[in-house]
Amino acid sequence: MAPPPALEAAELVKTYPAGRKKPPLRALDGLSFTVPEGVVLGLLGPNGAGKSTTVKILTTLSRADSGTARVAGFDVVKQQAEVRHAIGYVPQKSSSDPMATGVENLVLSGRVYGLSRQESVRRAAELLARFDLTDAANRQVRTYSGGMQRKLDVALGLVHRPRVLFLDEPTTGLDPEARADLWTEVERLSGTEGLTVLLTTHYLEEADRLAGQLAIVDHGKIVAEGTPEALKAELRGDSVQVELVDTDLDGTVQKLLSTLPGVGEIVVDGNTLRARVDRGATAVPAVLGALEEKAIPVTAVTVSRPSLDDVYLQYTGRSFKTADKEQAA
Ligand SMILES: Nc1ncnc2c1ncn2[C@@H]1O[C@H](COP(=O)(O)OP(=O)(O)OP(=O)(O)O)[C@@H](O)[C@H]1O
Ligand SMILES: [Mg+2]
Repeated sequence: MAPPPALEAAELVKTYPAGRKKPPLRALDGLSFTVPEGVVLGLLGPNGAGKSTTVKILTTLSRADSGTARVAGFDVVKQQAEVRHAIGYVPQKSSSDPMATGVENLVLSGRVYGLSRQESVRRAAELLARFDLTDAANRQVRTYSGGMQRKLDVALGLVHRPRVLFLDEPTTGLDPEARADLWTEVERLSGTEGLTVLLTTHYLEEADRLAGQLAIVDHGKIVAEGTPEALKAELRGDSVQVELVDTDLDGTVQKLLSTLPGVGEIVVDGNTLRARVDRGATAVPAVLGALEEKAIPVTAVTVSRPSLDDVYLQYTGRSFKTADKEQAA
């Protein structure tokens, strides 16, 4: 018999009650996914899409209004203790004690999970070594760099050797080097150690690199799912991006381009126009020619193979960066 999936969410719905000035909010609207053991699932979506809410329900910290979820084969409502034992959770905001040292944080966490004092000390040393923190073991965490703190956070989530690890935006705010460091670590955890990882992220590049399976979340639903490669491959042709000097307020440019053969799915995004074309090489001269004829000034035109941003655009109707800004506002 095949092993049960490591993660299973079925039709999750979560509504937050109305506030004084706010109407009730449907944060999850029938969200479902299944993740086999050993796979990294990337949950990608703008601010407010429902990523953290999903993580909280799967880690038993919050409860769905309806729908079911299982983690490592255990029901998140009926088998909370089993779920908690099977998972490591690295929250969006650090949970380490800044006044304690790295080793103190790890030993305490081991004790909380029921390890003996001796076992906790041994495990702490092991984790400090693997995250390259041995030299900083006896320093207070408040003196750590952002990257070191985040590595310690992940180590804290691993103390009790969980089978499933939840990482809620593990690299937000890190510099590129610290981010790359953590990526290598996550790859090692899922690769050689067979851990199942659920990772939420705002970075397309991170999702592209780490996720074996990617789910794009928008307004509490999964709008696209697959490997990053498959999602990109589904989009045919090339992507053309035109930067205009002036915003296309009345839709003149959009209309003009839509008359060109082989140009489709035109989306306006401020001064930027994006379109899918059959062949970039032939579309660009046609696009530029049409704009020049109408004396519409252009600052730049770029052609690229479909990226995850194009996938995002395709399924949500807006670009990743715009959606992020919109929902954060
Ligand atoms: N405790 C709460 N009470 C009321 N509304 C909430 C609560 N937690 C989240 N929300 C709302 O639910 C929606 C989804 O929030 P969630 O934190 O799951 O999004 P997210 O995808 O993790 O966003 P971010 O990328 O900003 O972390 C948002 O509109 C948020 O304002
Ligand atoms: Mg979040």
